Amino acid sequence: MRSRAAAVRPDEALLSWRAMHHLGVLTSGGDAPGMNAAIRAVVRTAVHAGARVSGIYRGYQGLIDGDIAEMGPRSVANIIQRGGTILRTARCQAFYTPEGRAEAAAELRAHAIESLVVIGGDGSYRGAAKLHEEHGIAVVGIPGTIDNDIYGTDVSIGFNTAINVALDAVDRLRDTAASHDRLFLVEVMGRHSGAIALYVGVAGGAEAILLPEVPSDIEKVADALAAAQRQGKSSSVVVVAEGALEGGALALQRVLAERAGYEARTSILGHIQRGGTPSTRDRVLASRLGFIAVRTLLAGVSGVMVGVDKRGTTTVPLQAVWENTKEIDWELVEIAQVLAI
Ligand code: ADP
Ligand code: F6P
Repeated sequence: MRSRAAAVRPDEALLSWRAMHHLGVLTSGGDAPGMNAAIRAVVRTAVHAGARVSGIYRGYQGLIDGDIAEMGPRSVANIIQRGGTILRTARCQAFYTPEGRAEAAAELRAHAIESLVVIGGDGSYRGAAKLHEEHGIAVVGIPGTIDNDIYGTDVSIGFNTAINVALDAVDRLRDTAASHDRLFLVEVMGRHSGAIALYVGVAGGAEAILLPEVPSDIEKVADALAAAQRQGKSSSVVVVAEGALEGGALALQRVLAERAGYEARTSILGHIQRGGTPSTRDRVLASRLGFIAVRTLLAGVSGVMVGVDKRGTTTVPLQAVWENTKEIDWELVEIAQVLAI
């Protein structure tokens, strides 16, 4: 399903078309560190190719509201190191309706914008694909979410920064856990995906990692943890993805206390993982994907997401992105279990 993005090399024949072309860029859904680096790459690649580019604020809501401003290389100066998104982001109920999308398309026509780069997750791509089908707007997606749960790319923008932030917290908690011989439960983000928990758990040497992909019985987990403590594990860190258990880490803490009289401490890292300075990896990934997204659009390709795999950049049909589920790294799940003895 994935294909190489090599077909989007500069083509002299397209230059005059590019010079007239006007593309829009927006961020949608949850923000992720590195989105600004992607916006910068989109704007500068477009201008370099002779195209015009406009920023659309607050995702699809801003599109419907006509919250749009033309951008140039200087509009994106000094943002590569900043977390969040200068275009801001939103979730937009109206865009789920054909009427809302018709209003959005009318705004694009009013601003003479012919194509759209959408930085976000698969929900945002569903909306983009409908805009394409119903109104002929060319669209290309860039994967941006800390959850790293987007099919068609090995990694999405923001994941690397988020795991570094969460790992720093786990390391700090381990210090105090060891000093007090305590069990710490650390809840990380991931309502439907355990990628953050798995990476942070393995890198942080967690005694157990609970993932949404591996259904766990909360009472059995509590009993196993209590037994490990009785058998000599004086301090432990357990990483829990927010979607792994009904009620998250706090529910596990309660069951531990009720069944084993065990007093664990819980830290919920929450949105801290979504903010802050993007890592080197995220900035480079975002620069690469922003560049390739614009080259793809300007080559006349639409309805795809750009991504990366071990061999380089790829393009994947948007529909394939939401019709498929990205697999968790099962080898790493086994490694985590083996190393936690
Ligand atoms: P993400 O892009 O991170 O998956 P969401 O699922 O919240 O985030 O989607 C972001 C926005 O994309 C929604 O608020 C909505 O405006 C639009 N969207 C999502 N799914 C659809 C859909 N099926 N049809 C039309 N628009 C959609
Ligand atoms: O960005 C992805 C994510 O962090 C999920 O892991 C989490 O469930 C969700 O977003 C929460 O986002 P919000 O608080 O913006 O609804």
